[in-house]
Amino acid sequence: MAENAQLGRRTVLRWLSASTVLGATAGVAACQQAPRIYDMQVSRDTGCPCCHVWTEIVQTTGRFRVTMIDAPDLPAFKRRLGVPAGLGSCHTAVVGAYVIEGHVPADDILRLLEQRPAEVRGIAVPGMPRGSPGMEQPDGAVDAYTVIAFDMEGRLRDFSHHAGNT
Ligand code: CU
Ligand code: CU
Repeated sequence: MAENAQLGRRTVLRWLSASTVLGATAGVAACQQAPRIYDMQVSRDTGCPCCHVWTEIVQTTGRFRVTMIDAPDLPAFKRRLGVPAGLGSCHTAVVGAYVIEGHVPADDILRLLEQRPAEVRGIAVPGMPRGSPGMEQPDGAVDAYTVIAFDMEGRLRDFSHHAGNT
């Protein structure tokens, strides 16, 4: 476990120095304006490695205090939280009143927390798009993907778009 954590950290540091894709600069700028730190609980399927990498990337912003637990029944947990069927991914995070499903970029999470749209229950990146945070590929492939906001009635709207390179 400790070895895994260390490997994850090293990998993240390598990405940070190798590319600007992670939006690290935006994270630092946001930090100077609003130094609030948010508690985040991440539930994941046991042993899923990409959850760990995503968590490490989110923490590099310095804006989140993250705890991670292995959920015995993740699909049921998602349903309870109101994650619409079809928007599921490998991990589900809770920050304050909001649900963060899957490999959502930290900048989108911070925008959600700063704008606090009342009608939104959470935001999701369905599936696991290549090149989303925690899903970086050895060949650098990035899929275009959309962060989707959902409410408790299962209504959806686009929250942000991220360009791909394929
Ligand atoms: Cu994943
Ligand atoms: Cu995951």
